[in-house]
Amino acid sequence: MTLVIFGGTAAYHLKLEEFATVGERRVVETPFGDSAAFVRLNPDAEAIWFSSRHGEGGLQRSAAFVNHRANVWAARDLGAAVILSWNGVGAIAPGLAVGQAVVPDDVLDMTRARLATFALPDVRVPSGSPFDAAWRARLIDACDALQIPCATHGTYVCTEGPRLETAAEIAMYGWGGSAVVGMTLAPEVWLAAELEIPYASLCIVTNMATGRWHLDPRRDFGPGIGAMGLRVTLAAAQANASSQTP
Ligand code: HPA
Repeated sequence: MTLVIFGGTAAYHLKLEEFATVGERRVVETPFGDSAAFVRLNPDAEAIWFSSRHGEGGLQRSAAFVNHRANVWAARDLGAAVILSWNGVGAIAPGLAVGQAVVPDDVLDMTRARLATFALPDVRVPSGSPFDAAWRARLIDACDALQIPCATHGTYVCTEGPRLETAAEIAMYGWGGSAVVGMTLAPEVWLAAELEIPYASLCIVTNMATGRWHLDPRRDFGPGIGAMGLRVTLAAAQANASSQTP
């Protein structure tokens, strides 16, 4: 089974060889342009392709400029049977702390200027949560195993960016039931749904959302966030692989 991991916040800080054996690197040509680079991890084992959405070696593309269509199409071309991702987020719901995980179970998509569909004539994404229940559970179990505090439910509101939100916007999203805010999950999750690739996301709280800074002024976009994202997604992948070994 081939698994794709899209790395978000701080993925570009990671030295991948500290986490896995690193194999081939590929940029995939797609009808939507070139994808971000994909790197094969642990090439002797089950296929895992890792891609840092925002670039390699540094932040090259902020969220609003990621070519999600090329990246998800490339994941499909590489044979993805599942996509896991991590997404840095601001905390809206009370009780969430910087550095903890949230595995979202719903999305409020407030993006408005992104190419959000492959426009395939015969595809209709079903209503309801776009997240895969079994893979959500694997991410939650991986957090438990790694002793990372993890909220097991929550709505992710995706904003357009590149600007951050106003306090009024965050207040409105909070009233609407959103737990965390970020800029990267849409349209990636919808594009995966169009291609019927199961998808689950590990959100990592990097800061309190605008208007909530008095609760905790910390902002953490450092390598520890990327390390956590990769450790948890790899642990979920490996737990799945070993459960399938006869
Ligand atoms: N807002 C939007 N995106 C984010 C934030 C935020 O506060 N933190 C990390 N990604």
